[in-house]
Amino acid sequence: MADRLLGKVALVTGGASGIGRAIALRFAREGAIVVIADQTDHPPEGGEPTRAILDREGRAAIFRKTDLTSEADTEAAVACAADRFGRLDVLVTTAAIGWGGRITETTLEAWERTLALAVTGVFLASRAAVRQMSGQVEGEDGVRGRILAVGCPTVTATAPGTAAFAAAKAAVHELARRIAVDHAADGIVCNVIDPGAIVVHRSNRPEEVAAAERAAARTPWRRPGRPEDVANAALFLASDEASFITGAVLAVDGGLAAH
Ligand SMILES: NC(=O)c1ccc[n+]([C@@H]2O[C@H](COP(=O)([O-])OP(=O)(O)OC[C@H]3O[C@@H](n4cnc5c(N)ncnc54)[C@H](O)[C@@H]3O)[C@@H](O)[C@H]2O)c1
Repeated sequence: MADRLLGKVALVTGGASGIGRAIALRFAREGAIVVIADQTDHPPEGGEPTRAILDREGRAAIFRKTDLTSEADTEAAVACAADRFGRLDVLVTTAAIGWGGRITETTLEAWERTLALAVTGVFLASRAAVRQMSGQVEGEDGVRGRILAVGCPTVTATAPGTAAFAAAKAAVHELARRIAVDHAADGIVCNVIDPGAIVVHRSNRPEEVAAAERAAARTPWRRPGRPEDVANAALFLASDEASFITGAVLAVDGGLAAH
């Protein structure tokens, strides 16, 4: 199967790097017009910017420099997609960063920085998307738009030392469920993907390294997760193949949460 997102307009937050980059690449290669909303176009892991790769391949993609903790910036990114391409079919929220460790090691600043992006950023992008999508003509399947939040199985697989991050991701899970319930009548589908230990560029902050190593050690499956594993699941949930799936959480974690 090819062109599974042909003609759809998708906005991917955090699409410059890691999982968001893999999702943006996969969506565009499946025929979507992709808007990458990120604070930078340059992947910290190195290499060409996502949009440059897609330009070279003749795919439709634009980069929109966005601070996802800013209401004005985030609303402008959603408006940019809708104004330029006529509608917004899919929002994927991947941008998130976790700071701090256990609650006793978490400063108020670290707590606020974590929630500003991982919760408020998801809230702002999702609110703007729901407002935009609710006014659009619905597809044959009755869907006006799809929202996909990237969570984390720290919520289900107890992870020590991630107080702010785990709290943020729990909030994202619940926010996605509320969107699914409150806006089903508006034709909005909303789901969560929980990636497990996915090999991406990492900072060398000790708590981040420790959390990644712990998750990898607890993963039953025999190889590390790849950003493409998450992109494959995102593709399904963003496509017309998924319409009666809403308010759900799909783990892409090699069995981590089940362990
Ligand atoms: N990598 C994993 O193992 C893993 C596991 C579970 C969940 N996740 C989740 O997957 C998502 C992506 O993770 P990743 O590892 O690919 O991350 P990443 O660090 O590679 O990418 C995050 C992106 O967010 C962008 N960003 C950061 N702050 C921003 C801001 N204020 N405004 C706009 N953009 C901003 C960064 O520039 C970057 O491109 C996150 O939600 C993360 O919690 C990742």
